Amino acid sequence: MIARVAIVGAGRVGTTLTRALVEAQYDVVSVMSRTLGSAQKAVNTANENNSTAVDKIADIAASDIVFLTVPDELIKATAREIMESAVDTKAICHCSGAKSSAELQFAADAGMRVASMHPLQSFADPGTAMANLPGTYWALEGVEGLTDELQTMIQRLQGICLPIKRDQKVAYHAGAVLACNYLYTLESIATKVMSQSGIPPEDCLKALMPLLQGTLNNMGSVGLPQALSGPISRGDIHTVEQHLSNLSSISSPERAREVYSLMGMEAIDMATKQITGIDSDTAERLRSLLDPQKKYSNQ
Ligand SMILES: NC(=O)c1ccc[n+]([C@@H]2O[C@H](COP(=O)([O-])OP(=O)(O)OC[C@H]3O[C@@H](n4cnc5c(N)ncnc54)[C@H](OP(=O)(O)O)[C@@H]3O)[C@@H](O)[C@H]2O)c1
Repeated sequence: MIARVAIVGAGRVGTTLTRALVEAQYDVVSVMSRTLGSAQKAVNTANENNSTAVDKIADIAASDIVFLTVPDELIKATAREIMESAVDTKAICHCSGAKSSAELQFAADAGMRVASMHPLQSFADPGTAMANLPGTYWALEGVEGLTDELQTMIQRLQGICLPIKRDQKVAYHAGAVLACNYLYTLESIATKVMSQSGIPPEDCLKALMPLLQGTLNNMGSVGLPQALSGPISRGDIHTVEQHLSNLSSISSPERAREVYSLMGMEAIDMATKQITGIDSDTAERLRSLLDPQKKYSNQ
């Protein structure tokens, strides 16, 4: 059973996990980071804990599991250092979305229990991340027995376990990046386009926030494709033509029209599947208008 935990990498995820695990009554024995200050800060975020901040792998106290919350490309090397330093632990788990427990195979071959447990959540700062954590899905895979104990941990963190196959993590993570990171990208492009209307850029995102929140609520309540609204869902071809013409005339960002067209093609597919969806003739006319291959010919 997991009782004592060590954290390696006191960044956004490591700091949040330290606090969340302490609040879930786990004994976080050590927080290790490249910089002692980061480790100490993570320890300080959690009240009433017995954690010690350290900056050397060899100083990590005995634990039932070590969580690696270092950048993805350092997972293997850090695990290797843990094995070579003979850190007293029974298991190693990393929190990467794209990488699987295969990254820790050499440790498994040496008798260590290994797993990967990825929070499907965006950790920007530890305060907000703590508030977002309840209800978060965690993709989990690894050796039998250890995954049962980690499933219990996920429940104690008020999360939901999402079992995943080792070799399916890249597809899972690509979907997560599209849904989360590219939402920020989309808002970056949207605010640049919108600010060309004369609304100050800093006001655009502020004004878009209630729209975004309403959009998420709609998606949560009626799902896809039913939640889609807007000109494509209505089959409003003239509005789409006006948008394309306007996007061709603006200088920044240059890729705005391409993004509008590419995402519009997916919107057409969705609109055809809606209960009061567009007919096939309207869909074809919209497709020929938005076809990204046609680039700027239909201005
Ligand atoms: N951020 C997210 O939204 C998110 C979401 C889900 C999963 N993840 C996963 O969580 C893991 C950590 O991501 P993150 O966003 O928390 O990264 P991060 O904020 O960049 O934190 C990584 C930390 O690792 C420490 N570190 C770097 N090299 C080290 C070393 N050699 N030994 C010990 N510590 C070292 C750094 O500490 P110092 O400050 O001491 O230099 C840094 O604070 C990654 O596997 C990532 O894929 C991230």
